[in-house]
Amino acid sequence: MKKNILNIKGTKDILPNETLVWRYLSDYIHEFFRQHGYKEIINPIFEDTSLFNRSIGKETDIVSKEMYSWTDQGNNNLTLRPEFTASVVRSYIQHQLGKQNALHKLYYLGDAFRRERPQKGRFRQFRQFGIEALGSNFPEQDAEIISIAYKLYHSLKIQNLQLKINSIGSKESRILYKNDLKSYLEKYKSDLTETSRYRLKTNPLRILDTKVDFEKEIIADAPVILDYLNSEDKEHFSYVKDFLKQLNIPYEIDNKLVRGLDYYSKTVFEIHHGSLGGQNALCGGGRYDYLVEELGGPSTPAIGFAAGFERLLMAADSSSFGINSDADIYIISLGKNAIGYSLDLAAKLRSNSNFIVVTDMLQKTMKSQMKDANRMNCKYMLIIGDDEISKNIIQVKNMETGNQESVDLSNLIKYFS
Ligand code: HAM
Repeated sequence: MKKNILNIKGTKDILPNETLVWRYLSDYIHEFFRQHGYKEIINPIFEDTSLFNRSIGKETDIVSKEMYSWTDQGNNNLTLRPEFTASVVRSYIQHQLGKQNALHKLYYLGDAFRRERPQKGRFRQFRQFGIEALGSNFPEQDAEIISIAYKLYHSLKIQNLQLKINSIGSKESRILYKNDLKSYLEKYKSDLTETSRYRLKTNPLRILDTKVDFEKEIIADAPVILDYLNSEDKEHFSYVKDFLKQLNIPYEIDNKLVRGLDYYSKTVFEIHHGSLGGQNALCGGGRYDYLVEELGGPSTPAIGFAAGFERLLMAADSSSFGINSDADIYIISLGKNAIGYSLDLAAKLRSNSNFIVVTDMLQKTMKSQMKDANRMNCKYMLIIGDDEISKNIIQVKNMETGNQESVDLSNLIKYFS
């Protein structure tokens, strides 16, 4: 027997019974971001590998072990995007968008790729949607970004959201903090995992993000970044908190929140949700005031967030979306004449309305066509037989009320408009 070929681990087929919900949510996201004045940007799915090395950071998990990278026939080092921020910034610089407008508000929705260990809510090909605002260093921009993320979930009636915020300060604030954190952790060096011992050399802040219990105990008493913020960073963070309060957005300060990508500064945040288990971050983001300059562009403050589409699907109750019909009108036809007649009628109804109109293609019995119409949750069932054709009428059954009536063919289009 021939062996079946299966999909690649960590990827997912979205089957026809799921795509309606997918489309609904995708349209919802596009509309939601547009309503906030953000414009869509569509970047290539793969980029020069050095873009991700230089932005996300060589020592991060994403770059050091999760990227799908290859060398093509022309010896170019390429990588499937593991996130969108780097590509957005690359194209912002390349097309000199900063010269056209002082502020750019952009959004995206598309696929990203990370070779992580697949589990609930974690895939190797996943969809991300997010927004990036480039140009403003004011705290109201932070509040807007955080509130858009929060309100998106809130508007989809997702309860028990947990918004965590922190400030990891500007570069200046972090110099002293890094030193003190390092000195504190050096005392426990022999107790740390190998990964953390390595991070102690490369990026000690990432140790704060540990998932290992005994390391959590060690960092419980570690110096806290918020105590090291300079007055400007402190004031910025304090405004962000004030604005969130004004917007009635509940948050908690998590002074261990540092995020897993290297480009952040000042405000960072994540929104968590209990239904997701271990992978409970619905979204995450923060400021990246140095990234544009580090990638060769003009100094440009920026902030954004990205969210997992599959995780949104898991947290949302899709039954509340009101998607419940595969078709609006089902035309039941019996006999060759009626089949031809139903095809023609379906075409006319479609071009005169927004109804989804379907006809039988399997020459089923009347009973099983009726079953089909019920299964598809149709609003109307139309019945055409030889008798109806000879009299120029159609039987129309309203499936909600159960009423059935004969409608003159010449009035049918009007009947449905
Ligand atoms: P991130 O925290 O790496 O941030 O990813 C953002 C979100 O993408 C996560 O909270 C999660 O919902 C989803 N996600 C990440 N990896 C996976 C996966 N393997 N499977 C399913 N979902 C996943 C970023 O990507 C930054 N670019 C966010 C950002 C935008 N910061 C500023 N602007």
